[in-house]
Amino acid sequence: MKKTVLTLLCIAVGIGSAAADATVKSAMKKYFKPEDALAKKAGKGEASDAELSELLKCFEALTKAKPAEGDDSSWEKKTTALVSAVKKIQAKDASGLSELKKATNCKACHDPHKGK
Ligand code: HEC
Repeated sequence: MKKTVLTLLCIAVGIGSAAADATVKSAMKKYFKPEDALAKKAGKGEASDAELSELLKCFEALTKAKPAEGDDSSWEKKTTALVSAVKKIQAKDASGLSELKKATNCKACHDPHKGK
């Protein structure tokens, strides 16, 4: 019993200190990496309204997260570009699609921010 409590405490502390990174990592795994990832689907204009609002929440969380590397102003620029592109798509503004494709460029963001 005592051991279980201790283990749980350790996990909680671990999650607390790694929160910013975990946000980015889980967003990458769920919304960027898969073949049918929402970030890719939305850029093709194939995401539903519900999917777009889910993606917007993910992007808004990214604006508040800390990148593994690189400076904050560059990160802010890249993540707010993601947010504004999705908002345009939601408003049926077709320029949002090309903006999202540009903003989700993996290498352009990984080079300055992903770290090793
Ligand atoms: C706005 C910036 C940004 C964009 C755009 C981006 N990434 Fe990332 N990605 C990151 C950062 C930052 C990390 C490092 C996360 C960490 O280790 O803390 C990362 C890490 C990853 C990882 C490793 C996750 C892990 O478990 O460590 C994968 C996989 C990944 N990205 C896939 C992609 C793919 C595929 C795309 C393009 C479709 C993409 N990313 C676009 C910022 C971005």
